[in-house]
Amino acid sequence: MKKGAIGIFDSGLGGLQIFHHIFKKLPKYDYVYLGDTARVPYGSRSQEAVYKFAIQAVDFLFKNNCSLIIFACNTVSGKALRKLQRDYLPKRYPKKRILGVIIPAVEETFEKRKKRVGIIATESTVLSGALEREIKKINPGINIFQQACPLLVPIVEAGEENSKLADLALKQYLEPMLKKNIDALILGCTHYGFLEDKIKKIVGERVEIINEGRVVAEKLKDYLKRHPEIENNIGRNSRIKFFSTDLTFTLKNRGSKFFGKNISIEKIRLD
Ligand code: DGL
Repeated sequence: MKKGAIGIFDSGLGGLQIFHHIFKKLPKYDYVYLGDTARVPYGSRSQEAVYKFAIQAVDFLFKNNCSLIIFACNTVSGKALRKLQRDYLPKRYPKKRILGVIIPAVEETFEKRKKRVGIIATESTVLSGALEREIKKINPGINIFQQACPLLVPIVEAGEENSKLADLALKQYLEPMLKKNIDALILGCTHYGFLEDKIKKIVGERVEIINEGRVVAEKLKDYLKRHPEIENNIGRNSRIKFFSTDLTFTLKNRGSKFFGKNISIEKIRLD
């Protein structure tokens, strides 16, 4: 039987950040990246819309021979993953699996014994309460402070992370959090990894930044070790294919920075 790939899905280019970390840790596997750049941002969409987009992405990736999908997006992980795993996968793709970014980030926070945790995320992730709920499940004693940052995804998608606008927005979002004396800050949106250096400067050394890219790569390695039935179905030719619903300059530019100048991205339709 032809071997499959690991699918990585995000609403746009934020997932590249996660994928980059995964590829550094697990370079031998084959991968398919899908960014729904025509419909980004998902962060202000309803649960119904995000669920519908997630089903379209899952169908596309599984039909393109993926054995396992990583939702490299908190918004999709928080709003669609559980329902998909419960209702859609068992009926349509009983042998395939989807993993998200929220549980790995939560486990990391717990393992590092953090007590006052800040979360920055899209409006939609904050409203879904997914990160908070999962943290409280592991340790109800952890204090959580959340901040929705609706301007950050458009800033990153536009490639404006080094602008004054980015500085201003970050200050505005992070200052209230610093007053709460947090000891960790979860970057609860995969796009925010591109702003990590700036965020670090604002929050200082005392606050540990939980970057999902690093954490997810480590957890995926462990998952594949524990699930040979999935791992055995993944090809090992280091092949990467990129798909997106719109060919944006920033996706190509960022993808090339991480994966080499010659990446080609194929435009597809999901709807
Ligand atoms: N990168 C995504 C996340 O982790 C979502 C960004 C968006 O589409 O709003 O939440």
